Amino acid sequence: MCGIIGCLGTGDVTQMLIEGLKRLEYRGYDSAGMAVIAQDGMKVHKVVGRVAELERTLPEDFCGPVGVAHTRWATHGAPSVVNAHPHLDSKGQLAVVHNGIIENHRTLRSVLESRGCVFRSETDSEVLAHLIAHYYQGDLLAAVRQALRDVRGTYGIAVISTLEPDVLVAARNGSPLIVGVRDGGLLVASDASALVAHTRDVIYFEDGEIAALRADGLRTVTLEDLEVSKTVERIDWDMDRLERGGFDHFMLKEIHEQPEVIRNATRGRLLVEAGEVKLGGITLSNRELKKIRRIVITACGTSWHAALVGEYMLESYAHVPVEVEYASEFRYRRPLLEPDDLVIVISQSGETADTLAALREAKERGVVTVGICNVVGSTIARETDMGIYTHAGPEIGVASTKAFTAQLTVLALLTLRLGRLHYMTPETSREIVRAMAELPVKVERVLEHAEEARAAAELFAVTQNCLYLGRGFNFPVALEGALKMKEISYIHAEGYPAAEMKHGPIALVDKNMPVVVIATRDRVYDKILSNIEEVKARGGRIIAVATEGDREIRRHADCVLYVPETLDLLTPLLTVVPLQLLAYYAAVARGCDVDRPRNLAKSVTVE
Ligand code: M6R
Repeated sequence: MCGIIGCLGTGDVTQMLIEGLKRLEYRGYDSAGMAVIAQDGMKVHKVVGRVAELERTLPEDFCGPVGVAHTRWATHGAPSVVNAHPHLDSKGQLAVVHNGIIENHRTLRSVLESRGCVFRSETDSEVLAHLIAHYYQGDLLAAVRQALRDVRGTYGIAVISTLEPDVLVAARNGSPLIVGVRDGGLLVASDASALVAHTRDVIYFEDGEIAALRADGLRTVTLEDLEVSKTVERIDWDMDRLERGGFDHFMLKEIHEQPEVIRNATRGRLLVEAGEVKLGGITLSNRELKKIRRIVITACGTSWHAALVGEYMLESYAHVPVEVEYASEFRYRRPLLEPDDLVIVISQSGETADTLAALREAKERGVVTVGICNVVGSTIARETDMGIYTHAGPEIGVASTKAFTAQLTVLALLTLRLGRLHYMTPETSREIVRAMAELPVKVERVLEHAEEARAAAELFAVTQNCLYLGRGFNFPVALEGALKMKEISYIHAEGYPAAEMKHGPIALVDKNMPVVVIATRDRVYDKILSNIEEVKARGGRIIAVATEGDREIRRHADCVLYVPETLDLLTPLLTVVPLQLLAYYAAVARGCDVDRPRNLAKSVTVE
């Protein structure tokens, strides 16, 4: 959840650390800190709050050629200067930044305290500094390796020491870590976004690997001290994709990128003339694919909502039974898995701790796994047997938007691929392929009406509660719309299947309650109009998402946000867009920090 960066260069690395932290801030932002090895020893500076504050208050003489820095999302101990990273050993010679959770920190701490170590913070991370110092006998790499053998938990760490000022040691277990190779030095970070300003040549670490970075290269070993040879890979995106590009927030930019995102997710995969799809990443033969008896999709948050839409798509059009599981439940409940099952894991970041654990659980049971990930080279992407990248580009806004539409696009492609092996006729396939090819232009049309979403958002300016209703393919969209609203505007929002409203949530409806209803023209349209009437009868305010040309709906709703018509399975790719805009404008109207909502972090790499 936290962001870490370390730099080793020939000149001062302070500015590089600050810039890297700014790029990483979306991963955690309650406090920040950095340490450099200066001529007169270790220099440390920490603040509560944002990286901008860290930069503003940096002492003038703060400089050095080796350093580590951290932006925190608190797990153990409140956001405070003492709890902010880096953490030092008792003598102040060694500094550590850590992303993850040390599960046995209490035991380690009491042992270390009994040996005279003086702890300053309430964090689990501080034990690492003392433990490494305890093992240090002239070789930092060896000391880190020995210390980590005592540790239970997850970590991505970067360590520096005044006793070996020319080396930076980094290690990972369950938290991402990438080395950037550039002229004049090496960098290490928890996320490629902190590196791409300097290099696109990177080295990915595996769990259990520890590396010593020096000016002339790096040496990597395992926890068991076996040498590992690493290869340099190239990242295919650049700085432009990490800038706001004239938009007020990353979230708004990413909402507006969705037409292009759908084009990228379908490029080379959607064969419009032939009415077919090509998914190079799915390496199972047609015979093997036909043998699949059940698909289990597991994910968290927005990716879990995409999985629910996938369930509706795959069951309706590919006729394969699908179950969707929260990854956090799947990993612990010993689910029944059969040899003919296929497990799909969906994750934008490819690093979510619960999703990764669910994947490992499925692999342990010998089931074939498919990843639907956005971040190329992420842990889930590398550990799944095969996969389909969503190619949405870096998503910086903490509230996921374009990653969701990209995931839906990929799930629709997979539905076509599997459907054609079962009951889907070539005509149906061609119809869906054509409709998918039209989606980018249709999303553009929805975006042209962003002002209407802004006006509708005024209904949310003072409310504390709201309800989202949808049916069929649009039920998961109601969940996603509600999640977006609560994440960034802090309004309590519930998503429900529209017909479920009568079984409880209707008790909440009064004249202060905005109710967002997805009421596109489909086979349950009349039913949804009845649900709208039930809300109206209790004084609720209706914001309807409806199909272009539907005048009837105006008689029932206080506000209407229109989307173009498309096939039922593809409507979520359109209906979610006004809901993203609604949440965005409601959050802006309420003065919330859209890209860095309170208590959240972009990538949940701890349990
Ligand atoms: O990176 P992932 O797709 O695995 O992340 C899953 C969730 O943490 C994520 O979707 C989260 O719910 C977002 N904040 C939603 O906007």
